[in-house]
Amino acid sequence: MKVTISTLRQAKAQGRKFVAVSCYDYTSAKLVAAAGVEVLLVGDSAAQFMLGFDSTLPVTMDFMAAITAAVRKAVPEQLLVADMPYEGCKNGADETLKNAERFIKQGGVDIVKIEATESDVETIKSVIDAGIPVMPHLGIRPQTGKYKAEGTTAEIATEIIKLADEMYQAGAQMLLLEGTAREVAKIITQKLPIPVISCGSGPDCDGQVLVLPDILKLRNGPVPKFSKSFADVGKACTEAVALYAKEVRQGIYPDDAHCYHMKAGEYEKLEKLKT
Ligand code: KIV
Repeated sequence: MKVTISTLRQAKAQGRKFVAVSCYDYTSAKLVAAAGVEVLLVGDSAAQFMLGFDSTLPVTMDFMAAITAAVRKAVPEQLLVADMPYEGCKNGADETLKNAERFIKQGGVDIVKIEATESDVETIKSVIDAGIPVMPHLGIRPQTGKYKAEGTTAEIATEIIKLADEMYQAGAQMLLLEGTAREVAKIITQKLPIPVISCGSGPDCDGQVLVLPDILKLRNGPVPKFSKSFADVGKACTEAVALYAKEVRQGIYPDDAHCYHMKAGEYEKLEKLKT
């Protein structure tokens, strides 16, 4: 059954947690959906995990639109979230709206996530007023390049709670809180009727999101404090490729069972043709 924003609102109302995963391609998305995950996000963290950049900033709208459409093909039933890259929103409200529309048309997404501060409320409102559901992304905003926990002082916590409320008043249908103090995330989640997704903002939000490379332990470098790996697929992957390489070098792979053969009698014909 198709997961919609209403499905998630209902889950919130009934106190049922939902699960989201950030992933970037057709094959992974199929595996994620098979695990029963309700929400897929095609995050701009693709800049780091797929393209090897050291921040999310360089990833283009073209690239995000293409991979988002690929993930949609894999998961017609899940709620699909597009992630507005920096390039897509850096030139103001008109450009942001145009790119949000592109995600809806080309990517077939249900909602567009946009990193936002106080100064973005009007832009967010204009996208929502054009009929496009928006999930403002508050707290740590990777497009700023700062990865320090947010809302850890009463003053900043007040600002985040106020901003969340303003986003709701502007018509936001969901909210994502990244790296925000648990206490603050809890207040926002309890206060607003819309589903609030935590990315490292504690267990009191309505849903959780992690990036697939962390869930699977695909990276070797440092991971954020909030992240957790649930299997060492990175190790399994390296071991599998090493075994493949060993078998090639030792002449074990490919064996005859992994070869195609000429039809009966054709080899003999070929031999004659050669002479
Ligand atoms: O880019 C991303 O994957 C994200 C999630 C981690 C929230 O924004």
